[in-house]
Amino acid sequence: MIDEILNKEELTKDDIIELLSIEKEEELNKLFEKAYSIKEKYIGRISHYRGLIEFSNYCIKDCNYCGIRKSNSLVDRFAMNKEEILKMAKWAFDNEYGSITLQSGERTDNDFVEFVTDVIKSIKEFTNGKLGMTLCMGEQTEEVYKKWFDAGGHRYLLRIETTNQDLYKNIHPKDELHSFNKRVECLKSLKKIGYQVGTGVMMGIPNQTIEDLANDIIFFKDMDIDMIGMGPYIVHKDTPIGKYAIEQGLDTDEHKKKRFLLGLKMIAVTRIFLKDVNIAATTALQALDPLGREKGIKAGANILMPIITLEDYREKYQLYDNKPCIDDNADKCKNCLTGRVMSVGEKVGFGEFGDSKHFFKNLR
Ligand code: 5AD
Repeated sequence: MIDEILNKEELTKDDIIELLSIEKEEELNKLFEKAYSIKEKYIGRISHYRGLIEFSNYCIKDCNYCGIRKSNSLVDRFAMNKEEILKMAKWAFDNEYGSITLQSGERTDNDFVEFVTDVIKSIKEFTNGKLGMTLCMGEQTEEVYKKWFDAGGHRYLLRIETTNQDLYKNIHPKDELHSFNKRVECLKSLKKIGYQVGTGVMMGIPNQTIEDLANDIIFFKDMDIDMIGMGPYIVHKDTPIGKYAIEQGLDTDEHKKKRFLLGLKMIAVTRIFLKDVNIAATTALQALDPLGREKGIKAGANILMPIITLEDYREKYQLYDNKPCIDDNADKCKNCLTGRVMSVGEKVGFGEFGDSKHFFKNLR
């Protein structure tokens, strides 16, 4: 049955559900091997880095699962200055990272917009346009997205979190600021402007079903998404969903293992279904398993996002508990991760953008 599905040209929704439901070791291996062979065919035995710069944890949003949500008063808020961000971007450039991802809590005020514009322009300038820049600063107006695109950003990551709208409502405050439709509109604006567009979901959110996840994968295709960044949900104890998960006994090792596996299966099935998109093996995978990111690569991912945030700030940017690498620095992370990539028989595409092949196929 599984062999039959894995040999199909096009998967149906039922096939996707079937694959996401696999639990037997032997079948899991078949799934991951198939996904990896597709990655090899469309992308090669290569992974690319996106140096992750988490430059501020101020946030106007109050997402019920996220550690840096607005109403978490236990968070020590910080915002890096331009020099600090440029220092990290320079480190990434000197170390031939190819690309960086600028991420922060969400803000829409004018000072923030202008600050980010200036930072993007400066990075673009001092690297002669040779450092790829992915932006991850949440929902903005189309004008702001355009402004940042014109300044030099060319990829944007905005996770849909879940495409089940009821679940979306349950994991966010029920107000205008946290609207599913608004997020979909944002993704459409980003496409229209010309960004390579990334989205993704969390896997294993309390009360999320396998069918929800199958619908998520189909959404990626329907929205013609170029890049996927998704990871297992991880409890943050100072959040409403985190507290609920603990109360419901969903934070046990057994549940964590399940969510981790779900993370790998989602990568694999997304690779099989979408083929030529960029898929990240996210840090959240490693938070649940020390070999999480290597396993992500073997399940079909081709992007890694080493944290290059300055050491002093790492601890303050915790979206979930037990975030790995918070005691590390950029040099250590580079060596560690490059070793991890080589350990699975791949090379790192140093000095290359590592753009989504899907994006360029569409332009032809
Ligand atoms: N567990 C896993 N991922 C999380 N994110 C936020 N909080 C958590 C959590 N508790 C993810 C969201 C967001 C991204 C930046 O981090 O998907 O889009």
